[in-house]
Amino acid sequence: MCGIVGYIGERSASDVLIKGLKRLEYRGYDSAGVAVMNGKMLCSKGKGKVSNLEKTLKKNKIEGFLGIGHTRWATHGEPNDVNSHPHLSESGKIAVVHNGIIENYTTLKKNLIERGRTFQSQTDTEVIAQLIEEIYTTSADITFDRAIRLALKQIVGTYGLAILNSETPDRIFIARKGSPLLLGIGDNEMFVASDASPIVEYTNKVVYLDDGEMAIVTQDSYRVKTIDDFPLTKEVHELAMSLDAIEKAGYPHFMLKEIFEQPRSVADCMRGRLNHEEGTILLGGIEDVMDHLVKARRIVIAACGTSWHSALVGEYLFEQLAKTPVEVEYASEFRYRDPLIGEGDVLLVISQSGETADTLAALREAKKRGALVLGICNVVGSTISRETDAGVFTHAGPEIGVASTKAFTAQVVVLIMMALELGERKGILGQKEMKRYLTELMRIPSKIEYILEHSDEAIQKMAGLFTYAPNFLYLGRSFNFPVALEGALKLKEISYIHAEGYPAAEMKHGPIALIDEMMPVVVIAATDHTNDKMISNIQEVKARKGRIISIMNDDNPEVKELSEFHISIPSTIDCFSPLLTVIPLQLLSYYIAVNRGCNVDQPRNLAKSVTVE
Ligand code: G6P
Repeated sequence: MCGIVGYIGERSASDVLIKGLKRLEYRGYDSAGVAVMNGKMLCSKGKGKVSNLEKTLKKNKIEGFLGIGHTRWATHGEPNDVNSHPHLSESGKIAVVHNGIIENYTTLKKNLIERGRTFQSQTDTEVIAQLIEEIYTTSADITFDRAIRLALKQIVGTYGLAILNSETPDRIFIARKGSPLLLGIGDNEMFVASDASPIVEYTNKVVYLDDGEMAIVTQDSYRVKTIDDFPLTKEVHELAMSLDAIEKAGYPHFMLKEIFEQPRSVADCMRGRLNHEEGTILLGGIEDVMDHLVKARRIVIAACGTSWHSALVGEYLFEQLAKTPVEVEYASEFRYRDPLIGEGDVLLVISQSGETADTLAALREAKKRGALVLGICNVVGSTISRETDAGVFTHAGPEIGVASTKAFTAQVVVLIMMALELGERKGILGQKEMKRYLTELMRIPSKIEYILEHSDEAIQKMAGLFTYAPNFLYLGRSFNFPVALEGALKLKEISYIHAEGYPAAEMKHGPIALIDEMMPVVVIAATDHTNDKMISNIQEVKARKGRIISIMNDDNPEVKELSEFHISIPSTIDCFSPLLTVIPLQLLSYYIAVNRGCNVDQPRNLAKSVTVE
């Protein structure tokens, strides 16, 4: 949600910033802008994609070796040229880019207006630039650094900030509270960014800022301190991300690349963690808390979006395989309803980005109340992964497409491994069963590969027939109910078709009224133990002339017979089924969105990582 990049070195700052903003564009693409220092503050910004900004900069080049840039997902103020970042102070000497929300900006703005300041935009960010300037220009003998710190003391809300001042033309100031920021240490050059993607091609040495910290960055040095001015020595981390992982590698979209990466990402997620011959699992990140998990009265899982759907799969998994009661919560609801959670409980948060504000807030709330907090994250070094007591990384590699695909399957694999391990430790699963589960789990990557190879063409054709359907219904049972939700979400997100996911039997209590000969109904009929019931549900749809698209196991003649279209997938153990059934649904939504001419990787109004509540 909004991307920040900054550069100081010997390269053209605008070139580095534009390249960086393109890599960050998945975080927000309502508008983009840069400020570059070259004797004075030069700024170029506007509504729309980074490519618009790039065109403007080609015509009106801004030269300089120090600059900051921003790509925006609008919160305050509509996305237009004036509301784009960077925001300048009244004198034009101070430039600010900001991720997050300043909650008390109306009060601060009112005070600043009373002091005679004039504002250009409707944003909360402009208030920061103006406030810093007000403090800097009206206080005697004050350094710019101190003016920033005093301003931050007055600000209520969240921020990741990069600030330039034309009076201190050799440095970038950055500060963080609730919105990620890191700095990249190059060879006689420095980078700042809201995530590692814009800097990975230049350096793999990074320092993550924590909440309440700021840094002063020059070409060859950086000083990190708290906003109370206590100096800090920070660990320098080595980035594991490679440049290939954040490029399209010949695919037309990141989403398609990421769908096709799943045989590998699922295998990477299991790598080194399973021993199918012995029937054992080793999850190093939670090894020390396994006893606690064994004793836990219940597990509460909190997440948002697609991660919430994998949490629902987790509920079925933990309850079936480990007999541990589970409650799944929307992270946004959990925090604000005075949750009954405390010692003896476990909160498991799931987040691809590790930065989702609501999930982070749920984590902090549960921690405050004494629960053990575990995490499943994809991004190493992310805030959630650093604030949880213990956790498991999904190792799916960077996910750039806004619609989540490979993160979902990797999260489900982690949940399977956790549930199996817990079931084994609780004495519910014996060695023989563990071996059976693990042997099958290790076959999943090749089964995904099979689906991708054998169904891609059929799904493309099918997508052609349903491209202009106004509505879709997705039905699933048991482990595949969350997949029905996920299939519907994917279609909504990228093709803007209204779609709903339902537990198949629940259809009778409402959605059945919508079914007629225009309604495509995707049924996920690939769980053995609910097959008969599913067949009845399909018949109910068919009786109302709904158009049935089924995702079914190879050997299911009855479902095939009842379906107008079917996609056959290999069979697996029921509880692993979501790892296979979700693949055709991802492809279906992808091809429909492409046919409709939608921007698949950057759907309207969405952002990859939602760092505001
Ligand atoms: C946004 C993204 C979704 C994602 C959700 C949760 O809404 O567009 O794709 O599932 O956030 O993100 P997280 O990073 O916490 O999994």
